[in-house]
Amino acid sequence: MAHVNQEKWSSGTAFLLAAIGSAVGLGNIYRFPYVVGENGGGAFVILYLGIVLFFGIPLVMTELTIGRRRQLPPFTAFTELSEGKKSQPFWKFIGFTTILTPLGILGFYFVIAGWTLNYVVSLITGQLSDLQEGQTQAVFAEMMDSPGTLIFWMTLSVAITAFIISRGIKAGLEKAVNILMPMLFLILVLLVIYSFFNGGIKETFEFMFTPDFEKINMRTVLEATGQAFFSLSLGSATMLVYGSYLPKNESIPKLACGVAFADTFVALIAGFAIFPIIFTNGLELDSGPNLVFVTLPVIFDQMPFGQVFGILFFLLLAFAAITSTISLFEPAVSNLEERGIFTRRKASLVVGLGLWCLAALSALSMNVLSDVRLLTFNDTVAGKNIMDILEYMSANGMMLFNSLFAGIFLGWVLNRKEALEELGLGDSILFKFWRGIIKFVVPIVVGYLIIDFLGYGFI
Ligand code: PHE
Repeated sequence: MAHVNQEKWSSGTAFLLAAIGSAVGLGNIYRFPYVVGENGGGAFVILYLGIVLFFGIPLVMTELTIGRRRQLPPFTAFTELSEGKKSQPFWKFIGFTTILTPLGILGFYFVIAGWTLNYVVSLITGQLSDLQEGQTQAVFAEMMDSPGTLIFWMTLSVAITAFIISRGIKAGLEKAVNILMPMLFLILVLLVIYSFFNGGIKETFEFMFTPDFEKINMRTVLEATGQAFFSLSLGSATMLVYGSYLPKNESIPKLACGVAFADTFVALIAGFAIFPIIFTNGLELDSGPNLVFVTLPVIFDQMPFGQVFGILFFLLLAFAAITSTISLFEPAVSNLEERGIFTRRKASLVVGLGLWCLAALSALSMNVLSDVRLLTFNDTVAGKNIMDILEYMSANGMMLFNSLFAGIFLGWVLNRKEALEELGLGDSILFKFWRGIIKFVVPIVVGYLIIDFLGYGFI
């Protein structure tokens, strides 16, 4: 098999920035706040933290281990690590579903990334000034109704991503995250300070940290797990591929904790950037995209320096989105390059064009194709448009599915010695604990969540 000389991250810090860039995305800043809002605040946050700790971190470690073991892209990693096993065809299949998943995610993620770019420019040009709530609703609806606008901004996000990827690990990904991540943190801090001075911090604390455990049921558990996996970029080949570029002397457990910590911190902080503004202005917590794209622009319009902070807010979203889209784009390109099918530049172009078509379908599913219904035999997806189906299948179903099998692969297929070597924890209690979770707890819990996802839940 052709093993093209793979580039590596230049340091553990470079990896960390890129992996945090992948993890911190629309999921943290755009989705986390409204999911918390929809699921009753504090109790959901506590549940979420527990899931990150007990499943998230061990699974990030798992994916980094599988990726780094042979330093191969996801599909090839599963294939080679199961060499000589009867189950190898199955693991090839898992390798395949694992690299398809990020492509499905990009099918809708690129469209939303496009919205954020559009809003940055609209705020700069003053198109979102002097508006009341109904009017920002109209601006958002107008964007959704316009295939041209959606496709234009989506195309821009595909082009930026493909360009960065085509330049390779050091000159492309590393350089991009070196510029974007510090700016992202700076903007986030500025926004929190701004929120802080505008009041509403106390209400935000109460809302985010007062648990009401009656709000917790199987649905919220599923929702919190889905959100945690999505936010940590699990089950979607990205941690596998970023792990494959990780130098052997870097500590996987430390880096995994770093990524999980930063990701969770940003999600919580994003709550502190958004909720206070909502609470002090006495507005209702809107659900879904409305929270960020309809409610916030009204407030930015009314507050002192609102326009500047509005621009910063949407820039933050755009940067977070781009550092995630590059990580979702990389697995397919990495595999195509390693197999010798295309050069990196050609692979970036081909994958970019394919994804453009998929994302265009998503964009059109909000207007021209809004009546198209696929998979109508399944009750849960019967009412969803193409973009929602893509999101539901890839970001919920497939991520859980791939994570389940990454866990089973590490626990039951990869031999213990190999895992021991990669982790560098020695044969310690920590190592045993981690492996026990992956080997027994993950299959049961994530397996059950998949059964529930498929509509056969019994709890
Ligand atoms: N973690 C990213 C976010 O929170 C999304 C993502 C999912 C990125 C899967 C890569 C892989 O927005």
